[in-house]
Amino acid sequence: MSAADDGTADFGFERVSLAEKQGRVDDVFRSVAKRYDVMNDLMSGGLHRAWKSHLIGMLRPGQNRPFRHLDVAGGTGDVAFRVLEAGGPQTKVTVLDINEAMLRVGQERADNRRAGTRFGDRIDFVTGNAETLPLPEDTFDAYTIAFGIRNVPRIDMALKEAFRVLKPGGRFLCLEFSRVDLPILEKIYDAYSFHVIPRIGARVAGDRESYRYLVESIRKFPSPGRFAAMIEEAGFSRVTHRVLSGGIVAIHSGWKVA
Ligand SMILES: C[S@@+](CC[C@H](N)C(=O)[O-])C[C@H]1O[C@@H](n2cnc3c(N)ncnc32)[C@H](O)[C@@H]1O
Repeated sequence: MSAADDGTADFGFERVSLAEKQGRVDDVFRSVAKRYDVMNDLMSGGLHRAWKSHLIGMLRPGQNRPFRHLDVAGGTGDVAFRVLEAGGPQTKVTVLDINEAMLRVGQERADNRRAGTRFGDRIDFVTGNAETLPLPEDTFDAYTIAFGIRNVPRIDMALKEAFRVLKPGGRFLCLEFSRVDLPILEKIYDAYSFHVIPRIGARVAGDRESYRYLVESIRKFPSPGRFAAMIEEAGFSRVTHRVLSGGIVAIHSGWKVA
């Protein structure tokens, strides 16, 4: 369970008020923003790239038609750039995140790529909350959220907002850490997560506590089956999920049926 009726949510292994959770999550990403991308490579041994490629493979943005994409909790733009690379010239991506420090890094990356590239003005960055998207309904062909939703205090609200802004026929895809389902892998994964990752965080990002939170928050996220049910409760149809890397991550998919 993430958010409860009593107005509290998990912040890692602590139970805090919904407002406190968002404030502390914001502190985490403000602190790690500049080292976020390099930390992703270090912590996952580059695997996050394969997981994101898998996500984009499922998305298949069209080559010869307009494609409006929204990447929520998009941070430094990693998923958005991949969508643009996979899509055609009429693909446009909006990156939305609550944290301006993360978006600034994404904006700089986009500016660097823009110099002489094909991205032009096909990407924009919006500061906003996944729970109350500052965007009109029935607007996007697809919505992605990668490693973002477990940080959102009211996951049910974020899912309802995803449903609202998608066009009828639009696709929801969520890439998130999940439950390791192989006993031997689980032991290694636990040891790595709780002992190694916070140390890498301390050394590379100068912030052990933020990476401890990230590891704990993975353990508190709902099981793939429970999360699929939440996606259905938000209105989505044909909800499916697939697990990757022995359950380290899962990709959930749903459709807004007209
Ligand atoms: C682990 S990062 C993921 C960034 C990116 N999607 C990726 O895969 O590299 C989580 C992101 O969620 C954002 N976030 C947390 N709470 C949010 C909220 N309520 N609304 C929008 N973004 C939020 C954080 O600011 C952070 O950038």
